[in-house]
Amino acid sequence: MNPQDLTHFATLLKARTGIEVDAQKDYLVQSRLATIAGTAGHESVDDLLRAIRTAPDERVLEAAIDAMTTNETLFFRDQTPFDHLRKIVLEPARRKGGTVRIWSAACSTGQEPYSIAMLWEEVAHHLPGVRLEIMATDYSNACLTKARAGIYSAFEVQRGLPVQKLMKHFEPDGPNWRVKDNLRQSITWRRHNLLDNPAAMGRFDVIFCRNVLIYFDRATRSKVFDNLNGQLKDDGYLILGASENVMGVTERFRGDASSPGLYVKTGLAAPMPRAVGA
Ligand SMILES: C[S@@+](CC[C@H](N)C(=O)[O-])C[C@H]1O[C@@H](n2cnc3c(N)ncnc32)[C@H](O)[C@@H]1O
Repeated sequence: MNPQDLTHFATLLKARTGIEVDAQKDYLVQSRLATIAGTAGHESVDDLLRAIRTAPDERVLEAAIDAMTTNETLFFRDQTPFDHLRKIVLEPARRKGGTVRIWSAACSTGQEPYSIAMLWEEVAHHLPGVRLEIMATDYSNACLTKARAGIYSAFEVQRGLPVQKLMKHFEPDGPNWRVKDNLRQSITWRRHNLLDNPAAMGRFDVIFCRNVLIYFDRATRSKVFDNLNGQLKDDGYLILGASENVMGVTERFRGDASSPGLYVKTGLAAPMPRAVGA
């Protein structure tokens, strides 16, 4: 692979998404871009990268960038964040009525926001008069198309989804399973880049931003934390992935060892949620 072409592509990828690729990992670029190269009529990934540098076609470049995102996800991933969420939505302040807003900020193919919607269905009877809004966003158009369709293979539904929930919220669709309409319609899907200003989406009670910051350098993570901080209500919660934290990156959020992965706004925030009878 021509180092100049690879460096040029890696620079564009980082500028647009924050994702860093290690120059040593050219095999990763090779495997992720093979299909795009073929579809765009190039003989090899080397040819594709050369074209991106010398005669860029925006559609091909965007498809290549999309292909470099890592979309691994599963239903109820890690479970603890969903235990936190159950406690948060049942807090007295949120039981008063009105709307609880939850943002799944790098939702990949939709398993995370659908898990949130399924959990809400379980607790909603404790929350009369409370409305839920789920906003699910990702950079990847390919992921959002799949997420909106809500169709998952037998393998995908076996990953994290209890069989009772499969029976309740999905229906067979050929060899696959399709999320029922009421659950699909409870989620608003939107393309959003975490590096961009999210102000137009309004403020949220809970933001899930999980398993994406690991692909960013410190400066990019700090910028994303600033963006998320502005969108979190003062008594809201940020939920990060199991291997992510704020330490050494931002002082805008603080965590608590007793609630791993859960963060509140420094200075302003509510205490960590405690289990409330439900
Ligand atoms: C590994 S998945 C995590 C999915 C889910 N949050 C979970 O924890 O299971 C990471 C997602 O982050 C998205 N992503 C990467 N860079 C992004 C950016 N700059 N803005 C928004 N989404 C981004 C990718 O497209 C991918 O779908």
